[in-house]
Amino acid sequence: MDFHGKTVYQIYPKSFQDTNGDGWGDLPGVTSRLDYLKNLGVDYLWLTPFYPSPQRDNGYDVADYTAIDPRYGTMEDFDELAREAKKRGIGLMLDMVFNHTSTEHEWFQRALKGEAKYRDYYIFRDGTPGEPPTNWVSKFGGNAWEYVPALKKYYLHLFDVTQADLNWENPAVREELKSILRFWKEKGVSGFRFDVVNLISKGAFENDDEGDGRRFYTDGPKVHEYLKELVADSGIDGMFTVGEMSSTSIENCIRYSNPAEHELSMTFSFHHLKVDYRDGQKWQLMPPDLRALKKLFQDWQEKMTEKGGWNALFWCNHDQPRIVSRLGDEGKYRKESAKMLAAAIHLLRGTPYIYQGEELGMTNAHFQHIEDYRDVESINYHHILRQEGKSEEETMEILGARSRDNSRTPMQWEAGINAGFTSGTPWISVNENHKTINAAAEEKDEDSILAFYKNLVRLRKENTVISEGSIRFLDTPASLLAYEREYEGTRLLVLCNLTREPLALPENHGSRKGWTKFLGNYEGMEERLRPYEVLVLKK
Ligand code: GLC
Ligand code: CA
Repeated sequence: MDFHGKTVYQIYPKSFQDTNGDGWGDLPGVTSRLDYLKNLGVDYLWLTPFYPSPQRDNGYDVADYTAIDPRYGTMEDFDELAREAKKRGIGLMLDMVFNHTSTEHEWFQRALKGEAKYRDYYIFRDGTPGEPPTNWVSKFGGNAWEYVPALKKYYLHLFDVTQADLNWENPAVREELKSILRFWKEKGVSGFRFDVVNLISKGAFENDDEGDGRRFYTDGPKVHEYLKELVADSGIDGMFTVGEMSSTSIENCIRYSNPAEHELSMTFSFHHLKVDYRDGQKWQLMPPDLRALKKLFQDWQEKMTEKGGWNALFWCNHDQPRIVSRLGDEGKYRKESAKMLAAAIHLLRGTPYIYQGEELGMTNAHFQHIEDYRDVESINYHHILRQEGKSEEETMEILGARSRDNSRTPMQWEAGINAGFTSGTPWISVNENHKTINAAAEEKDEDSILAFYKNLVRLRKENTVISEGSIRFLDTPASLLAYEREYEGTRLLVLCNLTREPLALPENHGSRKGWTKFLGNYEGMEERLRPYEVLVLKK
């Protein structure tokens, strides 16, 4: 498969580069940074939504799927970006938010006006105020149903109240979505990322006595059927596609991503990013369970491979705190830990994704006041946590570790004003540490995190053992992630010290007979792995 050797770079345009001083990143901003991206070596850019939107959820509340929100630019700006990217051999992937629309979308507005055709585009259920149809909980907090007095009905919103779930049972909805894909395909985009696409097929609308309702709509009864139909009828089979899968299973991801199924090229799953959730709860802090992390990598890598599935590999995106702050070390070992974490992911079997700023080792925002937060989920949970009796201080500590805004602060281009992101007032504060952590400084430094990422992107293109090799995990202590790749007799041994404590090498590889050093984040090799050391050996 030709996407095995590729690397994707995720851009959150709102925070990437502003060109007109309104404090809001825009499409011309992305175009202006294409040479930086070309230099990094990435093959595709995944752009998160820039469509007209009330921005309750930063554009994941789409009001029109085939236009550009003027705050991001114009359709001409988009065409220009696509042209300039193509010149540099870079493809664009667009984000398709098909589980729900904004309530400001024309379809929902017409539904509200009582047009039966459009009411059937959404999931409306009869009910009386105060008695929602089910007890399902919205992913952003509170009940997942909202009552509309004029219609005497509730509508379902698995996310914010302004994000109404679409009714995929209705063939007319599926036709609308196919035509959106055709529109962008004709514009020359290379691929698509599908937002929470495993939630589109709702099963029974029943109360959940065991959980928050997710078992009724996650990887639902017709999800594979719907995906096959969408992909076949819109003519996007064979394009580069990735599905974001919420609380999914390996079995389902094999089906989503096995080429024989004609669904998607690969899947994002999130289990490895929950190993620091206490009792599975995002808003309860716990140190990461490294044993669980390793076991998840092993299961997903080995089982997906056995059955022809393909993983998207990632630590960071616009919904996750920064990985150095989370599993690495923000202080003394920032550089070492950022590089180790990068190698740990990029050398796995799958297609790696880099989220803007990750290649610089950007850290969490550490906002101290709720006024600094912009994200709807964070603001809702601030309220919920306070109501549960947590102090303001404790709540700030939790948001500081878990808020999605940690990854949404502006890209750190340079040491100057607003990190070079904008000449105006940024929509969200720039991290103070841009004075030392920024692209300009790292571009001059051969030993930078940025240089290490460039190397990883290039090595994947040059070494079939990385893009196509088989994978096998070694049985090692929790603090050591160790796996071996193999392709036609060439072997790579990847050893990652996940902690700041020095670590003995695994017994049978202690002597390293016949192995030579292929890559690392320290000079030379020692008998023990140094703090956050990654050592990659080749035979
Ligand atoms: C996905 C997006 C996230 C958004 C949610 C609802 O998880 O990545 O940013 O809030 O879907 O669309
Ligand atoms: Ca702007």
